[in-house]
Amino acid sequence: SGAKPIPVPPGLPFLGNIGDIDRELPLRSFVALAEKYGEIYRLNLPGRTMVVNSSHRLINELCDEKRFIKIPKGALDQIRNGVHDGLFTARPNEPNWAIAHRILMPARAGYRAWLHIQECDANLNRFGPVSIRGMFGEMHDVATQLALKFARHGPTTPIAVTEDFTRLALDTLALCSMGYRFNSYYTTGLHPFIEAMGDFLTVSGTRASRPMPDWFYRAEDAKYFQDIEVLRKTAMDVLRSRKEQPNDRKDLLNAMLNGVDSKTGQRMTDESIIDNLITFLIAGHETTSGTLSFAFHELMKNPEAYRKAQKEVDEVVGKGPITVEHMSKVPYISAILRETLRLDSPITIFSVVPVEDTLLAGQYPVYKDEAMMLFVKQAHVDPAVYGDDAHEFKPERMLDEQFHKLPKNAWKPFGNGARGCIGRPFAIQEATLAMVMLLQNFNFVMDDPTYRLSLKQTLTIKPDGFYMRAILRDGLT
Ligand code: HEM
Repeated sequence: SGAKPIPVPPGLPFLGNIGDIDRELPLRSFVALAEKYGEIYRLNLPGRTMVVNSSHRLINELCDEKRFIKIPKGALDQIRNGVHDGLFTARPNEPNWAIAHRILMPARAGYRAWLHIQECDANLNRFGPVSIRGMFGEMHDVATQLALKFARHGPTTPIAVTEDFTRLALDTLALCSMGYRFNSYYTTGLHPFIEAMGDFLTVSGTRASRPMPDWFYRAEDAKYFQDIEVLRKTAMDVLRSRKEQPNDRKDLLNAMLNGVDSKTGQRMTDESIIDNLITFLIAGHETTSGTLSFAFHELMKNPEAYRKAQKEVDEVVGKGPITVEHMSKVPYISAILRETLRLDSPITIFSVVPVEDTLLAGQYPVYKDEAMMLFVKQAHVDPAVYGDDAHEFKPERMLDEQFHKLPKNAWKPFGNGARGCIGRPFAIQEATLAMVMLLQNFNFVMDDPTYRLSLKQTLTIKPDGFYMRAILRDGLT
């Protein structure tokens, strides 16, 4: 054995490999480079390097939280301008992370299950003290608005799939987390909060790799900090009115207001509550809407899977009302979501840093604090785990029995360990409900049967220009 150098694509003086990364769709370059250089390569960027890891064996190693920790870099670090040490963007050892994490994370036993078992959606149906099942009614309310809209549109109007699922995700998050209604299905424009959040996220992304000095972007920055004000002021108003008129809603805002940290006895500060209210919307909306959009795209491309999914809904739910009990009785729909999250992970890549200089796979030298990218979307098609048909959409491989047999860390759409997704059961319940309701009520077809998947990339990826049409099966249920 012995140390082996990590391949580096040839770059330019000073700029390094920056020209190798597509600005519109970085994902495309990361895939192309992985195909050319293999499971590991290093990129030299102005002022920093990153090591991109694309195989299951390397991802598995990088999931060892004793050797590698999350330090937000790039866009994630910029998002701190708006939400500071909120859960998603906190640095290691920031005390507000630990307090919020302990208040919002499910009980200890469940937490252990979370870390060690691949799948725990069923026994981990909580968001801290709040039960996700208890949110079903409000999730159902918003999903019904979507179904009504599709029904009113009628069978000939093209539906902008990603946009409508984004409305679903945002309205559901705001309603379930703080009792706030964006009413996105009743307005043509977007709510000012949503507008501000979109622009804030876009500029956070571009700020991370500005080719010109900061003064060049004075106007952009002024708008950026104004947008942050809109976000924080809206959240602050919600918090203030809740304090003035307390209620007993079982939502995340009350969980944060009333929660006491079991370890320190501390409560969350107002600032930290605001950081996290905004964080839930940021972390939860594109990811959930992307998942649903990709899932429907997969169904359009895989008629056999579509037929099985609809059959399951008809047999399990029939034409009656959908209840929370149905959510754990649709294994094929669950498998479709898992398979979608494997092939089309909306968060394609996340990063950690080594706590000290170390060797990856016992041979590749990497350095303390250097960005290790876990390119999970690519590792999700590693033939060593998923076989020669890794690129094919086959929900069957994600039915419980097969799913539980996957090697450790082979399916990572929700991130890793203590810094893994806290909203996973929330997202799964919402996406399952939406799929069940839509398949129960409509037959979907591609608006343009020749459409070929094209991607839009911001913090996450989602389908671009994907339109369907919705044909009512009977009346709405
Ligand atoms: C963290 C994925 C839905 C809240 C993460 C991470 C991933 C992820 C990959 C880790 C990021 C990193 O390591 O840098 C997803 C996917 C979702 C989803 C694929 C939908 C299918 C949600 C929802 C919420 C949420 C609905 C809120 C209700 C969070 C938070 C964190 C997080 C707060 C940070 C946790 C921490 O570091 O303590 N998510 N997420 N996510 N997610 Fe999600």
